[in-house]
Order: sequence, then C-alpha cells, then structure tokens
Amino acid sequence: MLWRIRYFQRYFWYRKRQNKKQIEVEVTGAEETKVWHDGNWLGEAVYNLLDNSVKYAPEHSKIRVVVRQDEMYTRIVVSDDGIGIPEGEENRIFQRFYRGSRVTGEPGFGLGLYISREIVTLHGGFMKAKRKEQGLEVAIFLPV
Ligand SMILES: Nc1ncnc2c1ncn2[C@@H]1O[C@H](COP(=O)(O)OP(=O)(O)OP(=O)(O)O)[C@@H](O)[C@H]1O
Ligand SMILES: [Mg+2]
Repeated sequence: MLWRIRYFQRYFWYRKRQNKKQIEVEVTGAEETKVWHDGNWLGEAVYNLLDNSVKYAPEHSKIRVVVRQDEMYTRIVVSDDGIGIPEGEENRIFQRFYRGSRVTGEPGFGLGLYISREIVTLHGGFMKAKRKEQGLEVAIFLPV
C-alpha cells in the first residue's frame, strides 16, 4: 500500500523540478500497511487529493500524506497549508460540480473529490474533510 503512495511522492518529486510552486510531498506511515484495493482506481482517488493540495497550497509549502491502520480502517490522510475552505463546506466539496467559495483563479470542474468519493465508496470506505487552522485535511478511510 505505502509503496503505491511513495510512487506518487517520487512522481511529485520529479514534477517539482518543473513545478513552479516547488511543493514537497512527505509520506509517512507504517510500511506494513496492507489493504484490499484496486490499484488503478485507488491511485486516481489519491491523485485527486494531491492535485487539489498542489492547486490550493502556496509556493514552497509541504503536503503531508500519512497512512495509518487501526483495527477497523486504513486511513490515508492528505493535508496542506493552503487556502482551505470556510466552515460549512466540509461536505459540500464532495458534491458533483461543486467548487468552493474561496476558489478564484484555479481551473477545475468540481469533479475531483466527487470521483474520489465514488471510488472510495466502491471500496467499502468513506471520506472526510477537516478544516485546519491553515489549510485542509482530507482523509480516505478503507475497511481493513
Ligand atoms: N486541498 C484543498 N484546499 C482548499 N480547498 C480545497 C482543497 N481540496 C478541495 N478544495 C475545495 O473543494 C472544491 C471541490 O474540489 P474538487 O477536487 O472536487 O474540484 P476542483 O479541484 O475545483 O476541480 P477538479 O478537481 O474537477 O479539477 C474545490 O473547488 C475547492 O473549493
Ligand atoms: Mg480537484
């Protein structure tokens, strides 16, 4: 599981050289994490979260990806120090075509999180967004 996420880290590290924002992706978590998943589809779900963090976070900031497992769920948490969302938008951002009220110039259709949630639901899991003092934290929960 973690190696798949690390694959994204390497991918972003590579992209960083061309990436004007110079954003770093840090991945931590238990190496032994095992979870049933479809590699391609779950990859797409995680990719959408990273894509958002890059889009809505400032230059030279750090995106943190943490993978944790307890008795019930494997959790993949992606957090950034970006523009975040106002109170009350935590559930709405998962709706199809919904774009947050803080979004100004960044392009998009409001589909990424909707697609991620569909994928995660098909895995028997769920997603949650949590506002941070600065930025946003989006978590994928997958059943163990
Ligand atoms: N990391 C984040 N920081 C701040 N706002 C976010 C973040 N991720 C999502 N959002 C908010 O949630 C909304 C919906 O996200 P979603 O990924 O579904 O669409 P999008 O990024 O606007 O467009 P698309 O993914 O289709 O290119 C965004 O428009 C934005 O307001
Ligand atoms: Mg998006």
